Amino acid sequence: MYSQVIAGTYFTSKDDQTVQVGENTLICIDEQGQIVRIISDREPEFHSVRQTAADQNNLLQLAANERLLPGFVDLHIHAPQWAQAGLALDRSLNDWLNTYTFPLEAKFADDQFALTVYSSLVQTLLANGTTTALMFGTIYNSSNLILAQQAAKFGLRALIGKVAMDDPTQTPEYYRDESATEALKATREFIESMLKLQQQTRTTLMPVITPRFIPSCTNELLQGLGELAKQYDLPIQSHCSESDWEDQYVQERFGQRDAEVFDHFGLLTDQAVMAHGTQLTDGDLSLFRQRQAAVAHCPISNVYFGNAVFPTRKALQAGNQIGLGSDISGGFSPSLYRNMQQAVMSSQLLTDGVNNEMDSTKRGVPDSRISMKTAFYLATKGGAQALNLPVGAIEVGKQADFQVVKLTPALTAESIDDEFERLLYQAERNSISWVMVGGEMVYQNQEGHR
Ligand code: GUN
Ligand code: FE
Repeated sequence: MYSQVIAGTYFTSKDDQTVQVGENTLICIDEQGQIVRIISDREPEFHSVRQTAADQNNLLQLAANERLLPGFVDLHIHAPQWAQAGLALDRSLNDWLNTYTFPLEAKFADDQFALTVYSSLVQTLLANGTTTALMFGTIYNSSNLILAQQAAKFGLRALIGKVAMDDPTQTPEYYRDESATEALKATREFIESMLKLQQQTRTTLMPVITPRFIPSCTNELLQGLGELAKQYDLPIQSHCSESDWEDQYVQERFGQRDAEVFDHFGLLTDQAVMAHGTQLTDGDLSLFRQRQAAVAHCPISNVYFGNAVFPTRKALQAGNQIGLGSDISGGFSPSLYRNMQQAVMSSQLLTDGVNNEMDSTKRGVPDSRISMKTAFYLATKGGAQALNLPVGAIEVGKQADFQVVKLTPALTAESIDDEFERLLYQAERNSISWVMVGGEMVYQNQEGHR
């Protein structure tokens, strides 16, 4: 009757404050990879549905020390930069881009190099529990399509952008679109190729309009990309108010804030996902809310390049849409567990402040702390809402995108809330037993648990 039934205990985010627990349930999945029913052990059909699934060899029973979670949504990642994750994080953003990042991305003119890096990245993301990723590629369509093919091959949901960057004053000659016209032509070609690829695969493959950030784009390019986003009704991704330098550069060039410039060019829509936002003002956040544009909060990267901590709690309370991004390789880790932990830790630093020469009552921004429940929301439901995709939650009607995680042994008695908190602090790649996307098994841990 169901194509698969998963039996076990799950955690899923209800809202940014609350986690829902389903203890000892059956998650029933249909042939389309959709969750069609969730049955608790108090319901009369529990035993018969379980037995039928077992008889038909369709039952996936979790072990007593395993928990089912939604797969994570990584809302901001630079796929080519996987090749340098962890390098040069002592540089400023501008220096890091020019000295390390642009030369690396230029190497993706070589398809073989792209294949090696992208195959590794896609498998690494799945092994870390990430089942959907919003990604920057490079300026080269050939390598961008290799990324899409690797995502399809291994079963990752991938929203991918051909990076557009044409401003000769802010980009190197060896790595730049020749002109706004050429960048727009290549973007259009990439969109058409992706729409064709999507028809040949089960997993989500979506093209994304991708101005790298305002400093690397001419007005003509920004204008054209806004028009393409509208014409094809596509998601948009970029960086917005990500550091002092970038924020000030945009103000000097336009006499306007980053968010206003994106908005002016039709690039701040309800399908836009803007990375970082550490420098967003209350006015900017309000504009984001009016447009229903989302922020991809990248807590590890922000420590290095952000020059401030993004006020996650304030923005959530105001009603902004927020998800979580690894920002490889501004962030060094492909794991959203590691990023959730940093999101909580950074929010604590924002609350307390960090300069011990200041009076403790003036040192921080009170009430800025977020809980692990909120961080989990960002990594799942928040990201899914930003992308308008039916993923990120264990609910009827959502896609069966899951990860199964092993608990470390409890040494003291713990409530289910404690178990959740400890799970998210202790989980690492090797704690993940298996990962599913749209009902398909896409990763199984061969190494066994520690
Ligand atoms: N701003 C423009 N390009 C980049 C990039 O590749 N990474 C980050 N973190 N910020 C950027
Ligand atoms: Fe980035």
